[in-house]
Amino acid sequence: MLMSMLTTSSKPVSELFPRVSALVRARRTEFAESTMKIPMRNYRDPEVLQAELQHVLGASPLVLAPSAAIRGEGAYLTRQLPDGRSVIISHGKDGTVRVLVNTCRYRGARVAEGSGCTRRFTCAYHGWSYDTAGALVGQPGRPGFDDVQTADLSLAELPSAESFGFVWLVPAGSPGVTAHLGGFAEPLASYDYASFQANPPMEVELAANWKCLLEAFFETYHFPFVHGNSMVGQGSIGNIVSFDAFSAHSG
Ligand code: FES
Repeated sequence: MLMSMLTTSSKPVSELFPRVSALVRARRTEFAESTMKIPMRNYRDPEVLQAELQHVLGASPLVLAPSAAIRGEGAYLTRQLPDGRSVIISHGKDGTVRVLVNTCRYRGARVAEGSGCTRRFTCAYHGWSYDTAGALVGQPGRPGFDDVQTADLSLAELPSAESFGFVWLVPAGSPGVTAHLGGFAEPLASYDYASFQANPPMEVELAANWKCLLEAFFETYHFPFVHGNSMVGQGSIGNIVSFDAFSAHSG
């Protein structure tokens, strides 16, 4: 696979508009010094994927949803983590957004699917129910469980944070969100995503390496060919990209 390698120097965001305007006028894109060749192994080798899951996606704060998608008490949505676990992102009655493991504490069935607004997550298997903070609040046949403390049977909660207008999973041992973002924190904050309205959440499952999807959004080289007859193609300019690196991030 061949890919144009772009410049990696970080420049102030205030320069962005004049930089891009100049590119549009000149009808050219930013270029790196040379073309980069990427081995197919990066996309197909299970060992590479496992290393990425462990050291990249599993070791750093990870965006799970825009805050706007779970606005309001009782709003929730489910997501699948890179390690395969299903979680509920739940906006609790107390206003706190939590990330709860979507696994009933009795026999492990899921207690929520999709998204919506609720006061209770009720397991379809034996009817145990949990409030929006994950506490066990309903147990049919309670006398049979008299010797167990309901306080010990809350849905497991994963460390998380809500900042920059997003809900983040923050793995133990990882830096906080702001430290993780480094130089990207300031430009990200300037967009004020917390004030945005969200479209209905959408989850798409594709049989593709995760990097393929990200990289598709890094280039507009394909626009005139793939999107030429669509709204996207008609409202955009193909093959003009400006790139900045912000420590481990890019924009
Ligand atoms: S597995 Fe949830 S109530 Fe039985």
